[in-house]
Amino acid sequence: MTDLTPISFTDNDIDAFASHKGRVAVIVGADGKLDRLARRVSRLTKGAVARLVAAERFGKMKPGDVATLAYPAGMEAEAVDVVRLSRGDDIAAARKAGAGLAKLRGKADLLVAAGGHARAAQLAFGAVMRDYDYDDQKSAADPRAGKIVVMCTKPDEIEAKAAPLMAVAEGAFLTRDLTNAPANVLTTTAYAEQIKEMESLGLKVEVMDEEKLASLGMRTLLSVGQGSDSPSYVVVMRWGGGEKDDAPLALVGKGVVFDTGGISLKPGAGMEDMTMDMGGSAVVVGVMHAIARRKAKANVVGLVGIVENMVSGNATRPGDVIKTMKGDTVEVINTDAEGRLVLCDVLWHAQEAYKPAAMIDLATLTGAIIIGLGHENAGVFSNDDDLCDAFLKSAKAENEGAWRMPLGKAYDDLLKSRIADMKNIGGRPAGSITAAQFLKRFVKDDCPWIHLDIAGVASVKNETALAPKGATGWGVAALNRLIADRFEKG
Ligand code: BES
Ligand code: MN
Ligand code: ZN
Repeated sequence: MTDLTPISFTDNDIDAFASHKGRVAVIVGADGKLDRLARRVSRLTKGAVARLVAAERFGKMKPGDVATLAYPAGMEAEAVDVVRLSRGDDIAAARKAGAGLAKLRGKADLLVAAGGHARAAQLAFGAVMRDYDYDDQKSAADPRAGKIVVMCTKPDEIEAKAAPLMAVAEGAFLTRDLTNAPANVLTTTAYAEQIKEMESLGLKVEVMDEEKLASLGMRTLLSVGQGSDSPSYVVVMRWGGGEKDDAPLALVGKGVVFDTGGISLKPGAGMEDMTMDMGGSAVVVGVMHAIARRKAKANVVGLVGIVENMVSGNATRPGDVIKTMKGDTVEVINTDAEGRLVLCDVLWHAQEAYKPAAMIDLATLTGAIIIGLGHENAGVFSNDDDLCDAFLKSAKAENEGAWRMPLGKAYDDLLKSRIADMKNIGGRPAGSITAAQFLKRFVKDDCPWIHLDIAGVASVKNETALAPKGATGWGVAALNRLIADRFEKG
């Protein structure tokens, strides 16, 4: 896993600035008043910080923006970064400030003079989250270098506040690494083995192979993987931090390591992007990592369906009819609508085996959700307003875009098949909703459930608030917060 940038918290020390060789960051609120640390840096630079803050430029900066004084006279530092952040600014602004500093840092050591700022831990989280680069496949990758030191009042308290945030950052990095990994590296077997290693975190991990899946009746999932030389798996991760008898939250993820579309082959252009089609499962794995690292007082079970959708003489054909684990039959009209075929059996197994208190699935399920919501919001579908509202609140607090979409009988009707219980597609109109309706058929009425279609947000071509281009780790922070707020005891 890509390591987090080493970060430490130390006492305020105005004598450390003059000789610091990397970058020094000071924080100034909207009122333009310099604290003791910023005053010292300003004095060293013969008033440059004070002049910047007095200039029109500072007035135009938004919360979390950074302005740089390069190679300041009077200091050994290569730059002084002036952050605009007031005491009352929100979490997103503090994270943006940290991310801005991380982006400017390059490989230099960063010393942040946070003083008594209330948002120091959130700023640190933003910095660590943005300090990410996927270079596993580069032969001449530069070694990651440099560290971040946050100088603050009561460093032990800030460090304790930052610790659970760093667990989330680790989880998000794991999600990003998995989602960025090419399909010849992250094969189904390599993926299952990597998850198995998470037992070292205190998780119980069970890898179910094809023989086991067949005995459970997961024919639909197996039908997606049968055209690939790589075997299919379902991997179950269990975290038991709650009361022994409490029903768990179930997280279910689509783990298609590569999606060619199968016999309903995708067009060649852009097909390489389908290496991220296991993004939903990667969020599940990232959340399980995060809650294990911070020892969450909750019971959570993560289940991921790991398959590869390939083309071969043994691949499922359009027109084939498969009987799901639940017992319903599906006419496979389009082999490229494979995610729902994987998830239906995993959702069913999750309910049969774990009787969850609630269930949330994540999947890069439809291109249609990108047409609807672009790359700003994941599609949220739910049969339970209370759970759904709680999730939307968590996502908002973490600045992870999420937008609720409708469900309804008229959409479900589009799945009717002439020869089987249902078709696997409902046609082009409302493509994301009919996909969700398909999944809903495998959710019991009394099970509160959310489906997150993350096709637009799991991996993006432009950088986002806290991530460079590529895999974002979307959802790890929101789900971690939902677990903390709703499923954890005191
Ligand atoms: N993995 C794709 C969805 C996808 C598209 C994810 C773009 C990320 C970016 C999914 O398996 C798929 O192929 N969906 C089809 C469904 C259609 C055949 C009903 C789609 O969206 O075109
Ligand atoms: Mn597909
Ligand atoms: Zn897919």
